[in-house]
Amino acid sequence: MEVLTVKNIVRTYGRGAATFNALKGVDLTIKQGESVAIVGKSGSGKSTLMHILALLDQPTNGEVTLLGQATQTINKKALNQLRNQTFGFVFQQFFLNPKDTVLENVLLPLKIAGVPTKKRKKMALTVLRAVELENKADNLANDLSGGQKQRVCIARALVNNPEIIFADEPTGNLDSTTSEKVEQLLFQLNQTKKMTLIIVTHDPELAARCDRQIQIKDGLIVKEAV
Ligand SMILES: Nc1ncnc2c1ncn2[C@@H]1O[C@H](COP(=O)(O)OP(=O)(O)OP(=O)(O)O)[C@@H](O)[C@H]1O
Ligand SMILES: [Mg+2]
Repeated sequence: MEVLTVKNIVRTYGRGAATFNALKGVDLTIKQGESVAIVGKSGSGKSTLMHILALLDQPTNGEVTLLGQATQTINKKALNQLRNQTFGFVFQQFFLNPKDTVLENVLLPLKIAGVPTKKRKKMALTVLRAVELENKADNLANDLSGGQKQRVCIARALVNNPEIIFADEPTGNLDSTTSEKVEQLLFQLNQTKKMTLIIVTHDPELAARCDRQIQIKDGLIVKEAV
């Protein structure tokens, strides 16, 4: 089953003389349960593509279809709901709320989705255990190390059992032992729950672990390796 399809995606930033075409016509189909790595040099358009796939940004041109539904016509409220239910995000620019506890940060998506208090606490503690941060549940997010914050982001991304995980350099800030654990967790969910993984990475080993590698160069897919 196709979960996400994009056709002829163009994304132009700026206007006038400052216009820049970050994506120049990208076609991509992602099937349920796949793990896909998006690779390429800095500035090639990986994050831009991922934001469009995750419905966080709209393309200047082209179509995005999620689970058979054209996304252009979905209103803002429904789109927010759809994102909250279907996607998990591990983006570095998605900061935690520093003044909230680790637990509060992780259960936020469940709160938004209206999951009852007791149940959401239990679910959040389960994913915190998976990233080995259960003992930090009541700490302020601000008081964690960089790698621990990254793992909190990962726990938050996983807490609502999303169909698709979008991860932009998920292990970029982690030491090799921790990043191995995080990768194991992601691929385990991919295998056992058929969670679709879309990962932007500069790490060739992580990319090689995925079912497919999409290489972006100057805003175009230049190579697809299986
Ligand atoms: N808001 C913006 N306004 C103007 N140009 C932008 C904007 N965002 C990104 N760009 C440009 O679009 C191009 C693609 O950016 P993008 O963030 O997608 O790159 P990337 O492949 O994710 O790079 P990196 O590996 O460094 O994260 C870059 O040349 C960047 O300068
Ligand atoms: Mg990027």
